[in-house]
Amino acid sequence: MSKQATIEIDGEKYEFPLVTGTENEVAIDITTLRTATKGVITLDSGFKNTGSCESAITFLDGEKGILRYRGYSIEELAQKVDFLEVAYLLIFGELPTKAQNDKFHDDIKAQSAVDEDIKKILEAFPKSAHPMGIISSLTSALTAFNPSSVNVESEEDMYKSVVKILGKMPVLVAWTMRKKQGLPLDYGDDELGYVENILKMMFSKPSTKYVQNQVLVDALDKLLILHADHEQNCSTSTVRIVGSAHAGLFASISAGISALWGPLHGGANQAVLEMLQAIEADGGDTKKYMAKAKDKNDPFRLMGFGHRVYKNFDPRAKIIKKAADEVLEALGVEDPILAIAKGLEKEALEDPYFVERKLYPNVDFYSGIIYRAMNIPTEMFTVMFAIGRLPGWIAQWREMRLRKEPIGRPRQLYIGETQRPFVEVENR
Ligand code: ACO
Repeated sequence: MSKQATIEIDGEKYEFPLVTGTENEVAIDITTLRTATKGVITLDSGFKNTGSCESAITFLDGEKGILRYRGYSIEELAQKVDFLEVAYLLIFGELPTKAQNDKFHDDIKAQSAVDEDIKKILEAFPKSAHPMGIISSLTSALTAFNPSSVNVESEEDMYKSVVKILGKMPVLVAWTMRKKQGLPLDYGDDELGYVENILKMMFSKPSTKYVQNQVLVDALDKLLILHADHEQNCSTSTVRIVGSAHAGLFASISAGISALWGPLHGGANQAVLEMLQAIEADGGDTKKYMAKAKDKNDPFRLMGFGHRVYKNFDPRAKIIKKAADEVLEALGVEDPILAIAKGLEKEALEDPYFVERKLYPNVDFYSGIIYRAMNIPTEMFTVMFAIGRLPGWIAQWREMRLRKEPIGRPRQLYIGETQRPFVEVENR
């Protein structure tokens, strides 16, 4: 392949280098476009064709259904390592040795205490507040309690921020859920593994010893691994762009949590469950909802179907589908919602509308079913996704800082009024 791309504008030719990634993906480097052409820019609404950065963290091939973290396949990682090892891999680039993993876990545990004053902020939220809004606010508030987290020039301070956010986030999540349920807050148990501790902090009952269920521990561990990174998606791009202004880690992640909240992104797992419940309440007629999804005059979309980059089966969905079956079987759950989900899945996979547009069930279609079986309230689904995505956000933020990337500042094509005379209020 040629090493150059040529753009011709009004008979004038401009050459731009082609850059090839390690998986032979090719990009046209247009860094000099605007200067060379004296003002011409590219227009790519939704960034469907635009690479915002070079990254060595996650590779995915949406056409082939491949997802790898630092070169390791998601299938192998989900089977052979735990969430914290994946977090280490994403953030620092290599799987940890036993000693590195132990130290990482100890450092996280040592930083997991949350300032008691955070409770006052938590208490100020109304019971009706969505947990994603609360978590985003509390994560931002952590900056005030940890001022050194904004020092992005120091590797040591960066490491401290990394272990602090990994330690404190599950506490914030569990407290948010318990506050809404009127339960006393749980401070966790340092003897437990990371995922076991999340479950204990969320589900322990006052005066009753919490007993771990290994099926749930394994399923949550897997879910968190599968959500841990997905290269330059909406929330991750948000984290990188906020961080590119040299905002601290907690502030950048708080912004990422807000982006993840949206129903077209992480909020889809809650939207899937609400959709399934609505179909059940309406008599369970999946065909009616399939027809609505295909009707261009109806805004209804089949939540949990389709993906911006996967135009083949989402590899994470395959693993989660299996995990969902295992959890339901182990817990003996007979869920009518699941029957509706399976019906929709079967119909969509055979329907020409979905087949032609390559709309397959995505990761969120099945994750909600597992969360529901685990007794996690629907409103908390996206929060669980945020715990999983945390290592990815951290890794991407750290990479952006270490590569000394410039501040993110897209251009626009202005389509508004050209200059016009001011009109006094009485003449408008
Ligand atoms: N139901 C019905 N039709 C759909 C759906 C759906 N879920 N998704 C896409 N389509 C149709 C569109 O109407 C469009 O049809 P057209 O070509 O006739 O106009 C075509 O498929 C392409 O859709 P786009 O919106 O252009 O695809 P895009 O890549 O921009 O959007 C997205 C991807 C946002 C995920 C979309 O498929 C969607 O809204 N899905 C439902 C929400 C969802 O599940 N989101 C979770 C994504 S996974 C995650 O964030 C972790």
